[in-house]
Amino acid sequence: MHFLNFVLTLGLAFPGVQSIPAPSKPLYEVGSTSKTLHVARALPSGDLYPPQPPGAGPGKRGLLYNSDSNVEWSDYYVENSYVTYGTNGDVIRGDEINTWFSYVPTITVDAKLENGDWNHTVPILIEGGTKAMFASNEPDNPSQANLTPSQCVTVYKKFMQPYYGTVQLGTPAVNCGGGQAGLTYLEDFVQLCTGCAYNFVNLHYFVDRSQVNVTQYIQGLKDCVGLSVPAVQAKHEPLVGLPIVIGEFWLTGASEDEAGDLMDELLPWLDSNANVLFYQAFGGLLEGGFVNAAGTGLTPAGKAYGKLAT
Ligand SMILES: *[C@@H]1O[C@H](CO)[C@@H](O)[C@H](O)[C@H]1NC(C)=O
Ligand SMILES: *[C@@H]1O[C@H](CO)[C@@H](O)[C@H](O)[C@H]1NC(C)=O
Repeated sequence: MHFLNFVLTLGLAFPGVQSIPAPSKPLYEVGSTSKTLHVARALPSGDLYPPQPPGAGPGKRGLLYNSDSNVEWSDYYVENSYVTYGTNGDVIRGDEINTWFSYVPTITVDAKLENGDWNHTVPILIEGGTKAMFASNEPDNPSQANLTPSQCVTVYKKFMQPYYGTVQLGTPAVNCGGGQAGLTYLEDFVQLCTGCAYNFVNLHYFVDRSQVNVTQYIQGLKDCVGLSVPAVQAKHEPLVGLPIVIGEFWLTGASEDEAGDLMDELLPWLDSNANVLFYQAFGGLLEGGFVNAAGTGLTPAGKAYGKLAT
């Protein structure tokens, strides 16, 4: 699988081509394109040929993936108008997810608040069609980005703000409600980040099944999008009027059937809500999420996500 994607990446690297090449195109092109090929191979990625930006289809869905994911299952969503992009909490796409998907990078930093890949990789991603970028992932959470608001501001100003006006930039992602500081952290960050600008508010929404059922989870997410976040936005000028991205959401501990019910009800609401720009379920490509526990097929949630036949 990895080797196949590697070959496809080389084959798709024709400068200026923005649509998906037909399968009959030759896999290799030599000569003047070799420099571009080298860059694409170095990533490695299919970033030069994203089909469409996040949120462009009738669904506004992305696939979250990481090293635990069954990335080959992304093949089920290729050319699916509901699912258009992938994201992995990194700036290096990797060659695992199908090259058909466009890509949204995320800034991560080391203890010195640096990232040795970001500055030279982001321009390549943008040239290849990346349309949006995620700021620090749950900086208020010790097990995630774990940054003070002041550190988070340093990171935003250094790595994100220079791209304002070029691609769509999200606020640092916080959980809307739940255990961490969440929206309070977001308010502290926005007040400290003088001169910073954003294109969307990035929210996460995780609740455990032991605390709420499917109906209550959905209502909680609707309240977050419709009430809590707009109330925070109204208090901070840089956030006024921005759409919302649900960067991660999942009812943790839900059964496969419950997660399917959740998707059936929630996804049409998210798609029809003009204030929701795009979103990605956390369970995507993880066993027990979109792929069943045995790793042999899509779950009801996985099917609902791509409106695939059951
Ligand atoms: C990346 O660019 C930013 C902004 O110019 C700079 O502050 C930072 O030190 C650079 N990082 C590296 C690793 O080059
Ligand atoms: C969820 O819990 C609420 C409150 O107890 C209840 O009214 C509702 O019927 C439950 N929904 C489901 C799908 O079980």
